[in-house]
Amino acid sequence: RWPNFVQIKEVGPRDGLQNEKEWVSTEDKVKWINMLSDSGVSEIEYSSFVHPKWIPALKDAREVGKRIKRNPNVTYSALVPNEKGLEHALEAGIDMASVFMSASETHNKKNINKSIAETYPIMKNVIEGAKQEKKRVTGYVSTVFDCPFEGKVKTDDVIRVCERLFEYGVDDISLGDTIGSAVPSQVEELLESVLYRFPNKNIIMHFHDTRGMAIANIVTSMRYGVTRFDSSLGGLGGCPYAPGAAGNVATNDILYLLHGLGISTGIDESKIQEAALFIQEKLEKDLPSRSLAYETSQ
Ligand code: HMG
Ligand code: MG
Repeated sequence: RWPNFVQIKEVGPRDGLQNEKEWVSTEDKVKWINMLSDSGVSEIEYSSFVHPKWIPALKDAREVGKRIKRNPNVTYSALVPNEKGLEHALEAGIDMASVFMSASETHNKKNINKSIAETYPIMKNVIEGAKQEKKRVTGYVSTVFDCPFEGKVKTDDVIRVCERLFEYGVDDISLGDTIGSAVPSQVEELLESVLYRFPNKNIIMHFHDTRGMAIANIVTSMRYGVTRFDSSLGGLGGCPYAPGAAGNVATNDILYLLHGLGISTGIDESKIQEAALFIQEKLEKDLPSRSLAYETSQ
């Protein structure tokens, strides 16, 4: 049986834009996020408070946070790598902080310039700091299936990172197929272990769609009872520290799937399409979403 409701987090303004060479002006980002706020989506990751030299596309995170129109029905989150990032995020306004680290050593090092062991105390401080300010926290765990540098990642390594993040107090964990390499049997294997180890915790799946496997992996995850997914408008995006990796599953495509299965999301597909067309025009390139391409060809 399918779930009645699935919760989508729109990560386009963060994961979608972070790898874009084309600069999107602050004004356009704000307009775009306001369009998303009006689509019925319940959570938007609006930017990233990382070092601007590492992710120049999102160097205006503080201004964006201050200028977006807040819809009281939407949770606004942003990526926070360390205490400095948290300070900036709190100043700009967040409802929820997204901390992140990888299950594989090399990706963690390339992405945030620290070993896994060095990252733990930073995570602990940021999570505790956010909690003191009454903010909820999501913990992203990257490279949960495969690492672009080390190959297959052991489930035990993923569980170990999840244990730490839950111990530090994250409200939920988003498991990232950072390079979009997993097939459903890998999803089954990981979820068997993760859901057995953390039966009462909130688990979100975060699929990149590099090889077109994301929808199959989402269907598989729902069979295991997962009802929360991250997606990016039009399929925009990718991790700059995962060479060749494509964007997240497109919000347009996952909505087509879910609504077609009779699962509600609270999201208006036509508003998502409008917002996808807006950013497509700003970036002057076609976004990868197949359903967006089909709808706009009609
Ligand atoms: P670092 O250079 O090791 O930082 O970078 P540091 O602590 O040594 O500090 C060096 C300088 O940076 C200092 O300035 C700090 O103040 C400054 P100085 O004293 O030299 O003038 N600094 C900062 N400035 C602004 N904002 C900050 C900040 N922190 C330090 N937050 C850092 C460490 C984590 C900051 C860096 O490696 C970084 O920004 N990395 C970005 C990584 C990133 O954004 N990756 C993409 C997102 S993750 C992802 O896409 C995966 C995900 O989608 C899930 C999935 O798909 O799997 C989440
Ligand atoms: Mg990602």
